[in-house]
Amino acid sequence: MVVSIGGSILIPGKDDSDYIKKLAEMIREVSKTVQIVIVCGGGKIARYYTDTGRELGGTTYQLDLLGIGITRLNAQLLAVTLGDLSSADIPATAEEASNRSTPNKVVIMGGTVPGHTTDAVAAMVAREMRAGRVVNATSVDAVYSDDPKKNPDAERFSKLTIDELGELVYKEHGAGRSSVFDPLGIKIAKEEKIDILIVDGRNLGELRNAMLGKDICGTYVSSR
Ligand code: UTP
Repeated sequence: MVVSIGGSILIPGKDDSDYIKKLAEMIREVSKTVQIVIVCGGGKIARYYTDTGRELGGTTYQLDLLGIGITRLNAQLLAVTLGDLSSADIPATAEEASNRSTPNKVVIMGGTVPGHTTDAVAAMVAREMRAGRVVNATSVDAVYSDDPKKNPDAERFSKLTIDELGELVYKEHGAGRSSVFDPLGIKIAKEEKIDILIVDGRNLGELRNAMLGKDICGTYVSSR
């Protein structure tokens, strides 16, 4: 089972070590029954680097490399917390992550190559491992038809098909907003029949349920 955890969940910049400690405890417990790979996002530190790199004239490729660097650093931070349960060196590819994954080791990684986000990496790892689901630990509690903070009539989805998620993400991109799941990740999930569970990553009970395959309050995106 693969988790994509957003940088904004892992290190929002406030009480980060408290949350990471509790997250690591939960991962330790769940890892007794489920084989886990965790892909860490970059969050606002990555954004700071890419914005600064852009101001300095960096190419998209160079900015992506800066972002990847921070995602890998975040992965290292979580790996430090997990100690012997994870390995200190961070896999550089989805294939490497899949090869290293065993029932008693939690593999932690960040981004791989320029051109996509860590959501897509999570889908690539799931493809390599033939995993049936990717859990997306994010900053929203579910997928909505519109921004619920701006539109009180926004519809909240507890279930979606992968095509419905694809359409919503396509609309979001049209409006220039950042997407709830990377479009490349959605494409891979559709091709490989991987379900995507979108949950509030700061709610550790909910994240735990998603990792264990139990009922969730967030959105279950079915690809079958
Ligand atoms: P993130 O996965 O955190 O991107 O990677 P994001 O857009 O902030 O994702 P969400 O919104 O939290 O889901 C940070 C940046 O690192 C680069 C991209 O530039 C990405 O925006 N990156 C990451 C890559 O180029 N390749 C990767 O495999 C991963």
